[in-house]
Amino acid sequence: MSAPRTVLLTGASGVVGRSLLRENTSPTDGREAAGLRIIAASHSAPAPEAERSVACDVTAERFGLDKESYAALAGAVDVVIHSAGLTEWGLPAERYQPVNIDGTRRVVEFAERAGAVVHFMSTAFVAALADTAPTPLGEGNVCRRYIESKHRAEELLRESGVAHTVFRPTNLVGDSVTGWTSQGQIVQLMSDWIGRGRAPFVPAHAGIRMDFVPQDLLSKAVLRAIQLGDDRGEFWVTYGAEAMDVAACLQVVGKHAAARGRELTVPPIVDPASLDPAELERMPPMTRSYLSVLRDVSEVTVCSGGVLPTSMPELRERYGVPHVSDTTAYLRSLEYATAHLS
Ligand SMILES: NC(=O)c1ccc[n+]([C@@H]2O[C@H](COP(=O)([O-])OP(=O)(O)OC[C@H]3O[C@@H](n4cnc5c(N)ncnc54)[C@H](OP(=O)(O)O)[C@@H]3O)[C@@H](O)[C@H]2O)c1
Repeated sequence: MSAPRTVLLTGASGVVGRSLLRENTSPTDGREAAGLRIIAASHSAPAPEAERSVACDVTAERFGLDKESYAALAGAVDVVIHSAGLTEWGLPAERYQPVNIDGTRRVVEFAERAGAVVHFMSTAFVAALADTAPTPLGEGNVCRRYIESKHRAEELLRESGVAHTVFRPTNLVGDSVTGWTSQGQIVQLMSDWIGRGRAPFVPAHAGIRMDFVPQDLLSKAVLRAIQLGDDRGEFWVTYGAEAMDVAACLQVVGKHAAARGRELTVPPIVDPASLDPAELERMPPMTRSYLSVLRDVSEVTVCSGGVLPTSMPELRERYGVPHVSDTTAYLRSLEYATAHLS
C-alpha cells in the first residue's frame, strides 16, 4: 500500500461525489473505511459530507481560484477524482462543451501542474459510439450529445499523457445495503412512473439488459484504486451479461408496487421499431416524453451490443467490489426513493 494521498474530488455534491464521500468515511456494509484525505470541490454548494472544501468551477481558468490558491491546491493534491459534469440528457452540444469537455481540459492542466493521477468518471454509454457498435446511434437520440461529450473528455485525457484511469458506470441506483442516494435519478423516476401504472407499454429492443449498478460499488472501486496507487486502467462499471432483462426489471417494479398496495398490470414490452410515431404524437406530453427516453436508452444499449461491456469480474477481484444482486439492489433503491425522495 502506498503513502496516504490527498484527493481533490470534483463534482463532490453530485450523486457520485456524495456517495464517494460517504463510502470514504462510513461504508454501509461494515467494511473498513478507506479514510482518504479528500478535498471536496464545491461549485454552487458544498457537499454536506465534506470535511474540507474548496471553491471550484471547472469551466473557469484556474478553477476560478486566484493564482496563489490554485498553486497551493496543486501543491497539496496528488490524486484527482474528476466527477464534475453536466449530466442532464437532451441538451445541445454547446451546453456540454464548457463543462464536460473544456472542464476536463482544466482538470488535465491542474493534474499536470500537481503531478496528480486523474480518476475520471465517464459513462458506460460511450460503448454506443465505438467503431464496433453494431448499428450507429441515432442523431436524435436524447443521450447522444451527452455521450459524445464524455467520449471526447476520455480522448482528451488519453491525448494528454496524464496518468489516469477511466471508470465507465452504467445508470447508478442507490446504495446496495440501504438504497440511499442523495438525489433520485432517471431509474427511480421512470420506475416510479411505470409502477404507478402510467406506462401503456415499455419500448425496449429484444434481448437487451437493464443494467443498473448500486452507486457504492463504483465508489468502493474508485477508492480502492487510489489506495492501491493505480494510475491506469479502463473499467466498465456494469453488470454486463449478469444484468437483469426487461421482464425481470418489470417484475421488480411490480413487486415494489405490490408492497405499496398497488396491483400493477405489468405493461407489455414493445419493439421500438414497431412504434407508430403518429400514435406517440397523440399521447399526453409526459407519456410521450417518458416513452421516448425509454426508447432512446434502449437504443443506446442496442448500439452497445445489447449487453453492456463489463469489468465486474476484475473490479471484484482487484478492488474487492462485493457480489451484489442487481435485482435486490434495484428493489432497495426503489424502496428508499419511495420513503425518502417522493
Ligand atoms: N449518476 C449516474 O447514474 C452516472 C452514470 C454514469 C456516469 N456518470 C458520470 O459520473 C459523473 C458524476 O455524475 P453524478 O450523477 O454525480 O452527476 P450530478 O449528480 O449531476 O452532479 C454533477 C456534479 O458536477 C458539478 N458541476 C457541474 N458543473 C460544474 C462546474 N462548472 N464546475 C464544477 N463542478 C460542476 C455539480 O455541482 P453543482 O450542482 O454545484 O453545479 C455536481 O456536484 C458525471 O460526470 C457523469 O457523467 C454518472
